[in-house]
Amino acid sequence: MVSTQPVAIQAHGSQYLPQLSSSGINLSPNLLLLPMSARVNHHDFLEIGGCDVKTLVEQFDSPLYILDEQTLRVACRQYQEACQKYYKGEFQILYASKAWNCLAICAIVASEGLGIDVVSGGEIYTALQAGVSPSKIYFHGNNKSRAELNLAIESNCPIVVDNWLELRTLAELATNNPGIRIMLRLTPGIECHTHEYIRTGNLDSKFGFDINDLDQVFAFISQQPGLNCFGLHAHIGSQIFERQPHRDLARIMVQWLRESLKHGLNITELNVGGGLGVKYVESDDPPNIEEWIKAICEVVQNACTSENLPLPKLLCEPGRSLVATAGVTAYTVGATKTIPGIRTYLAIDGGMSDNPRPITYQSVYRAVIANKMSAPLSQTVTVAGKHCESGDILIKDAQLPRTEPGDILVVMGTGAYNYSMSSNYNRLPRPAAVLVMNGEANLILQRETYQDLVRLDCLPERLK
Ligand code: LLP
Repeated sequence: MVSTQPVAIQAHGSQYLPQLSSSGINLSPNLLLLPMSARVNHHDFLEIGGCDVKTLVEQFDSPLYILDEQTLRVACRQYQEACQKYYKGEFQILYASKAWNCLAICAIVASEGLGIDVVSGGEIYTALQAGVSPSKIYFHGNNKSRAELNLAIESNCPIVVDNWLELRTLAELATNNPGIRIMLRLTPGIECHTHEYIRTGNLDSKFGFDINDLDQVFAFISQQPGLNCFGLHAHIGSQIFERQPHRDLARIMVQWLRESLKHGLNITELNVGGGLGVKYVESDDPPNIEEWIKAICEVVQNACTSENLPLPKLLCEPGRSLVATAGVTAYTVGATKTIPGIRTYLAIDGGMSDNPRPITYQSVYRAVIANKMSAPLSQTVTVAGKHCESGDILIKDAQLPRTEPGDILVVMGTGAYNYSMSSNYNRLPRPAAVLVMNGEANLILQRETYQDLVRLDCLPERLK
């Protein structure tokens, strides 16, 4: 699938190129740093999807999000194939679109057979506009508005109910709209090792019904003829490297399924959420996609056999592991500042507005200089954003070759939770995004303009 040429010179950039084993086995995208199609061309420049990154920046300007279609599609297929291989029942993979929700990505994942997990009216609208089948758009959220609930109901999207207020509201709405399809989100009480802001399965979480309310919730639903509760959902967190928490989750969820039978509910779907981690730096060591799916399928199947339950339809909703590695961000290098004996700052033309993860979660990234891929490492610099904020640092102590203003710095692994969490802080227009494949580059998000920045501003008459 990938025909990476072995690179002769071990240089700063080529260490991150995907290496194919001699057996040619599929690489799991979540274990790579650069996208699968990354190469170094004869100019010593980085190419992604057959497109020279420097030329892309000349054409589309920087900062520029670059999305490798091959990597995204391969990740989708690996999830699908692993489920086919390890699960004997029906299954559905959903893309957790909070990782990067836009028309093109919704369309790509849907064309691979995936459904979409959405968390707001805006994400529902985007998925619908992209042509995703409403029955495959699962609506999450811990405080959905009535307008959002109505949009989901009118569009026939299944709703993942998070709390009592929402459940009662839906029971009321169901009097005029019988047959509303719902799943229940429950908090399983599972601890896992990840950043506390992205941990959601422990009991002290804002998401989902408290597990101690399980009986009461099932009893309430069994009294609501207008609600069609067909599934149970849980999500324990994000960027998880261990397999055990998801195994524990799968086992607990089968127990919930058994409990639901006591209340006469007909639960046929279990959704184990997302959370598989990705490699941002060499030391990150997540399982690959197949291993993760296998672990979950085995537990669900074994638990159902021992409980004598029919196999539910199995759902999972990865976000990061589908799209993180497919994306990189290209920046233009600008000013440097050396403080002798302390550090050198290398400034780029974006920062916390296009990638808020370092300042929010202390996330760590790697970068290469796209127009000097074979140059040896020769300096340790701190890559600083251009925002008026000292904490706007993208990479501390990055190992890079010698750089000059105008060089193209590419930060890897920015496909997930970068564009989707971007802002206009300091009135920086959001970057453009291009989709690359087989030498073709298509714009999927236009660069914002200064006119866009003031488009929604209002200047009251008396201030003019
Ligand atoms: N399902 C639910 C209900 C979720 O809340 C999430 C992520 C996912 C699925 C997808 O998880 P993933 O496969 O991407 O780990 N902004 C943070 C990540 C927040 C994750 C929120 N929920 C970050 O940049 O690390």
